[in-house]
Amino acid sequence: MPPLSEYTKKVMKKFLRPKNFGTIKDADSIGKVGNPVCGDIMWMYIKVDKKTNKIKKIKFKTYGCAAAIASTETLATIAKGKTLEEAEKLTMKDVKEALKDLPKVKIHCSIMSIQALRKAIQEYKKKNQKDLDATE
Ligand code: FES
Repeated sequence: MPPLSEYTKKVMKKFLRPKNFGTIKDADSIGKVGNPVCGDIMWMYIKVDKKTNKIKKIKFKTYGCAAAIASTETLATIAKGKTLEEAEKLTMKDVKEALKDLPKVKIHCSIMSIQALRKAIQEYKKKNQKDLDATE
């Protein structure tokens, strides 16, 4: 584990006071992924506005480390209000920039957040394909 001094203030703030931590009981979709490097697990819950195709609510739960919590909190904040297509294009780089960097050995933790969000979006699209086709 990297020493605390390797984490930016932004990482520590997001880790200690995540606003999007939790679950959504009536979520439209849940993306669950595991991290093969450390064995941790993450769930991303999304609620989608069917008219605008935008993520109106997003929450996460994880058995991950401080970097995983900070990264996912950051990703959730960025993804909220974006269309599914915009949110699907978010990358590790977006998270890393918003956090003003992450220790190199913790990059794999933040990748899990991207994977969980993409999985939630893909599951949502699978379940709602007919509705999505009608809006195009
Ligand atoms: Fe497992 Fe960070 S060490 S998510």
